[in-house]
Amino acid sequence: MENIKAYVQEHKDRFINELIELLKIPSVSADTAYSHDVFETADAVKASLEKAGCDFVEICDTPGYPIVYGEKIIDPNLPTVLVYGHYDVQPPDPMELWTSPPFEPVIKKTEIHPEGAIFARGSCDDKGQMYMHVKALEYMVQSNTLPCNVKFMIEGEEEIGSKSLSWFVERNQEKLKNDVILISDTGMISNQQPSITTGLRGLSYVEVEVTGPNRDLHSGLYGGAVANPINVLSKMIASLHDENNHITIPGFYDNVEELSLEERAEMAKAPFSLEKYKNALQLNDVYGEKGYVTNERNSIRPTLDVNGIWGGYTGEGAKTVIASKAYAKISMRLVPNQDWEQITELFTKHFNSIAPAGVTVLVKPHHGGQGYVTPIDSIGYKAANMAYTETFGVPAIPVRSGGSIPIVALFEKELKSKTILMGFGLDSDAIHSPNEHFGIFNYLKGIETIPLFYKYFVELSK
Ligand code: BES
Ligand code: MN
Ligand code: MN
Repeated sequence: MENIKAYVQEHKDRFINELIELLKIPSVSADTAYSHDVFETADAVKASLEKAGCDFVEICDTPGYPIVYGEKIIDPNLPTVLVYGHYDVQPPDPMELWTSPPFEPVIKKTEIHPEGAIFARGSCDDKGQMYMHVKALEYMVQSNTLPCNVKFMIEGEEEIGSKSLSWFVERNQEKLKNDVILISDTGMISNQQPSITTGLRGLSYVEVEVTGPNRDLHSGLYGGAVANPINVLSKMIASLHDENNHITIPGFYDNVEELSLEERAEMAKAPFSLEKYKNALQLNDVYGEKGYVTNERNSIRPTLDVNGIWGGYTGEGAKTVIASKAYAKISMRLVPNQDWEQITELFTKHFNSIAPAGVTVLVKPHHGGQGYVTPIDSIGYKAANMAYTETFGVPAIPVRSGGSIPIVALFEKELKSKTILMGFGLDSDAIHSPNEHFGIFNYLKGIETIPLFYKYFVELSK
């Protein structure tokens, strides 16, 4: 595989330019105004897979956005790697905080990325990381080194809950048969210290609506005499955590997997600087559940966060009004063994029970998914570790991530195979935020590392 380095060097400008073209299409799945662009991106992904050397590529229609499926089967007796990624992106707002427009990619140098990073929505999550796999395939086909079969399944609804993908996976088990699922949609510790994601949190996402009077009221004439939905909602939300920042929903922690002290000590070995963490976010202190450190709070512990809250008058100046309604969007990150549907029910029951007389409450469940943990003694993990070790010069560290890719648990259930999460992004890449970017170093390193995964996975499978 000496040649992969040379191949990347020779073609890197084209690799970057091709990704830039893909990033120009605003494939925002959450907003129907971009629907045409989401479909167009699927076509672009299809064309890129054909060009890279897949024998068969198709756009699979679903009740929602299409899934791009591609394959290159060289010998049915050899193992099959199934690559998953997503071509949809998060909405770009707030627009005014971008230093360059989100869908006009530019390369800029940063402290962490002295070689430059591509700034654009989706550059890291997940178009850039997905495209590394397309270019890795191109290399293996061009150099005649593809050691096994490969299938691609690239979806367009990951950022909105992967509804159509569940539908697709349930109906296509035979087509998607594989020996390992490979995903680059997570991060690593740093460009000097690779890591492999061994866990993802589950998710329950709900929207709540609190209704008081049947119309907005004059806050002088009625203030003090009726329940103010915004006051009440704030109080209800505040009561969801106690003074130790434990979540107060009865039964919430019932199935939470408690890690042993040994496992926690193992986790604490991963390099982490609290000072750097605080500095990067300009925080004077961190905050969270008592009894756990930052890296535990954001990975092995479940959480509850308000993602948005609105109601009443937020325009210019002052308007004296008691709103009829108040709303919030709330996400709960879950850990292995917590069932997201059960947690959604517990939340709904509890939230209704704490509503005072004078308001009515409506809880609307959005989407969710189970958490995931993967062992580090599987062939897939070992192959990934060997690949990283070769390209970075140091072994990868297993890390549980706080993020969610709900479809991973479903893959295991429906397709009976393990997922290897080989991410190349950094926490500082600002995914879902303004100024999302992806290091050129990371992009090219990914392309270099992926073919080695194939090589070692096939070797270890023998
Ligand atoms: N790629 C992310 C998840 C991620 C990022 C996991 C970094 C680990 C490290 C994915 O696109 C994502 O944003 N997932 C959503 C959940 C989804 C149901 C909207 C999330 O975690 O909020
Ligand atoms: Mn993603
Ligand atoms: Mn995302």
